[in-house]
Amino acid sequence: MADVVGHSLRYLSAPDIHAMVVYLRSIPPLHTAEDALERTTPPAGDAALPQNTRGARLYASTCAGCHMADGTGRQSSFATITGARSLGADNGRNLVQVLVQGSGMQTATGVQIMPHFVGGGLSDRDLADIASFVMTHFTTATPHNMEQAVQDAKRAN
Ligand code: HEC
Repeated sequence: MADVVGHSLRYLSAPDIHAMVVYLRSIPPLHTAEDALERTTPPAGDAALPQNTRGARLYASTCAGCHMADGTGRQSSFATITGARSLGADNGRNLVQVLVQGSGMQTATGVQIMPHFVGGGLSDRDLADIASFVMTHFTTATPHNMEQAVQDAKRAN
């Protein structure tokens, strides 16, 4: 965001700002993940998600902004999830834990923040579908009963 402000937004004229506000107010608000799903199309092109499942579409709208469609990190290689060993376990416990708790990784260049996804409008089923997609798409694991895993992780926190 700092880049956007530094290189672009701070140069906007008053009429430009007004036009942007008018446009943003014209977009109906999203209340649930279902609303977002209806308006999300998986990205096209080389890195397009091969599946058009619920989990794939939720990944595209919720995670791909940082993890890209192909699982390589946008901000840094720390956010690469392709083939990550922590994701490979069949019970998906580590993955679900990250989604429920978030994560902060200390690195030489600062803390890399992974936000949590509790209370942001995603249901247990949404998180379970995302987790199942991530496991089957980026690892060789076979997810089992992921909704239960999400509920267990929430209870443990
Ligand atoms: C705002 C950016 C951002 C968003 C959105 C985001 N992540 Fe992350 N994620 C990160 C960063 C940065 C890391 C690496 C730092 C860390 O692990 O603490 C990370 C790490 C991870 C890891 C741990 C990888 C490992 O083995 O160390 C998993 C799993 C993960 N993300 C999955 C997801 C999923 C699934 C979503 C969507 C529900 C998502 N992330 C949304 C930024 C993001």
